[in-house]
Amino acid sequence: MESRVIFRSAELVPGSNMASPLHDQVKSYYSSLESTAALQTSAACSALSRPLSPGIQQALTLIHPEVSKRFFGCGLVAPEKLKGCSVLDLGSGSGRDCYVLSKLVGEDGHVTGIDMTEDLIQASRKYVKYHQERFGFAEPNTEFVHGYMEKLSDAGIRDDSLDVVVSNCVICLCPDKRAVLSEAYRVLKFGGELYFSDIYANEVVPESFKLDPVLWGEGMGGALYWHDFISIMKELGFSTPRLVAASRIDVHNPELQTKADGSTKLHSQSRGHRSQCVKRHRYHVCNSEHIRTPSPSSPHKEVYFRLILLARFGPADFALFPQMKMQFKGKIKYASGTYRAFKLPQHSIRNSALVTYKGTVPDCAEGFDLDASNSFKVNVCVEVDAETAAILQYTRYSPDFLLQMTEKPDPKLSSVQQYCNLSPFLLADRLGSYVKQCSKINTGSSE
Ligand SMILES: C[S@@+](CC[C@H](N)C(=O)[O-])C[C@H]1O[C@@H](n2cnc3c(N)ncnc32)[C@H](O)[C@@H]1O
Repeated sequence: MESRVIFRSAELVPGSNMASPLHDQVKSYYSSLESTAALQTSAACSALSRPLSPGIQQALTLIHPEVSKRFFGCGLVAPEKLKGCSVLDLGSGSGRDCYVLSKLVGEDGHVTGIDMTEDLIQASRKYVKYHQERFGFAEPNTEFVHGYMEKLSDAGIRDDSLDVVVSNCVICLCPDKRAVLSEAYRVLKFGGELYFSDIYANEVVPESFKLDPVLWGEGMGGALYWHDFISIMKELGFSTPRLVAASRIDVHNPELQTKADGSTKLHSQSRGHRSQCVKRHRYHVCNSEHIRTPSPSSPHKEVYFRLILLARFGPADFALFPQMKMQFKGKIKYASGTYRAFKLPQHSIRNSALVTYKGTVPDCAEGFDLDASNSFKVNVCVEVDAETAAILQYTRYSPDFLLQMTEKPDPKLSSVQQYCNLSPFLLADRLGSYVKQCSKINTGSSE
């Protein structure tokens, strides 16, 4: 599906390791997060809407406390069946997830963490030997690379070389999401999996949020509108992302809330790029991030929002999204979401299939949850759509399923129907899960 969204281009200096001011801002933000107060508040982020497997629980108990103390993620990024896999963690921070993954991939697997913040890379490297010994491995299986995830080739990460790429609360901090996701696609083997947690917004975040260092550092300024994320992934060639877990994020910090509300009001004054806007009547409907409106209290606001929806989704989709109109009230809402997506051979399977789970994925003897909507009970035959069949046929889960193709062409769901199932906001509401905003700033309030 072609996206109608224009994103800011990379702000890295081409062909070099030099960062943009936004990268530098994020580096100093995360380098400074050593205080107990900051660490305690960020820990609220790790609340999960999915139970941990016994293997993960055990691995977590073995992590060095200094490493866990500087964990700043917003989920847990450990998919099933990792033994022997080569894994890359984008934005590995102090290395907590890398060390959990190190235990799960075992001695025959390998984990690489990449991070641009020197302090955090140093901190993570300090505990390689500790974890090797703790896990009883003859050799270390984990390394940490100092570099940018938009430029994995500069870090020596080759095409089609990895089984799994993970990331935990990092892409929201990155100015060029497309570059990161495209690099993830490049380095994955065919059949490989991207499995990551991040912060998403319920609508396009205004440009003015991006100018605020705190909103950006907290992931609120750079959070992708979840629908745009799905579009980018499809354009890059990934399978439709599957939503695994989600939680609403409550912004409790009054300073952040005020900033976010203030920035929303300033939306109409934010710097736009008119060249990226389309003139529709007297409104400038701009691609995704560059939106101008006559005034926030304009009586034409409803018409304006309708125009945005029309521009973004087209008339057919808009008709299926009447409820979305209600979301455009000016207050951005946030959710953390864990998605998984696969790099599959193109046009691999076109028909639906009958599949039976054998009960062989470790820690999943009773059943296997591919995502929040697709659970497979052991020895129960179910029909799945063509893309799900391709995932079960061409990935590391292939030996765990019996698969029988049908003659039935895949009932083509419209993209809108698929997308509705993929909203982290809807899933979080269904699960009733929410976490406190993982604020790393100390405002002196009673929070
Ligand atoms: C919120 S922290 C999460 C760290 C880690 N994933 C965890 O769960 O503890 C974000 C991390 O991403 C890193 N980061 C942000 N943008 C990056 C980029 N473009 N390239 C490499 N690392 C980046 C930061 O240095 C920081 O360590």
